[in-house]
Amino acid sequence: MSAKTRRKPNLRVKIISMGNSETGKSCIIKRYCEKRFVNKYLATIGIDYGVTKVTLKERDIKVNIFDMAGHPLFYEVRNEFYKDTQGAILVYDVSDRSSFEALDRWMEELNGEIGNKSEVDSIVVCVCANKTDLRRQVDESEGQLWADARGFHFFETSALSGDGVNEMFQALFEGVVKTCENGGKREPITTQLGYTKEQIDAIQRLKNAKNDYERLGLAPGASKDDVNKSYRKLAVLLHPDKSVAPGSEEAFKLLVAARTSLLKRC
Ligand code: GTP
Ligand code: MG
Repeated sequence: MSAKTRRKPNLRVKIISMGNSETGKSCIIKRYCEKRFVNKYLATIGIDYGVTKVTLKERDIKVNIFDMAGHPLFYEVRNEFYKDTQGAILVYDVSDRSSFEALDRWMEELNGEIGNKSEVDSIVVCVCANKTDLRRQVDESEGQLWADARGFHFFETSALSGDGVNEMFQALFEGVVKTCENGGKREPITTQLGYTKEQIDAIQRLKNAKNDYERLGLAPGASKDDVNKSYRKLAVLLHPDKSVAPGSEEAFKLLVAARTSLLKRC
């Protein structure tokens, strides 16, 4: 058999972008397709459509990219474009917490428009924590946990520097091709993070709380007993010898300091 006849048939796939406006969806796509970054914000009006070609596992793949406008104003335009999607990049901006908090709403929109659970479950989703070159409001562990809980890929990216962008698209295309070869069934992703949402929430609270009572999850004026009880619970959760959750060590130090200072006041 010649090399030509051995090649697998070409594929055509449909990819969409989702996420709040200004999170960097168009810039991530531009970085991948054109290897450049545009600093000026040019809002996508409704939808931008583009085509690119990739070769993966001896297969030529024509990728149709539907880059959606994130602004609510464009819902009526973009809602037409969800059907027949095989891969999605779901983008938030690490320097804007509200864009991370909006991820569930984007999944609701996708679910609502497709309206068929098994079709939604077959879509390969890459969550992109974008703008990692800026000052963060969302830790990597929070995004990773969100994606992990839903069986999605997770990548930290910067369209500005290019970090993570090629790796993210590579995983997206590989996932989509595998799904096609698998008769439309998405392969489960197992990351086994080794930490829980409870740990990440506790670390966030210790880092961001306005005072020591809040750090321990207590009301102002809590008793010595309450302080010790809460301390013990959090210490078990976050002790750096036991916890592999990122930020445990720093959070544990904050916990010890908060307990010491509160006990002096009791
Ligand atoms: P809509 O089309 O309105 O939904 O927005 P979008 O998500 O496509 O955002 P776009 O790619 O247009 O980028 C929005 C702004 O963020 C632009 O000013 C970009 O220059 C900037 N931007 C995008 N990615 C990055 C990044 O990784 N780092 C930094 N610092 N800025 C970025
Ligand atoms: Mg855009």
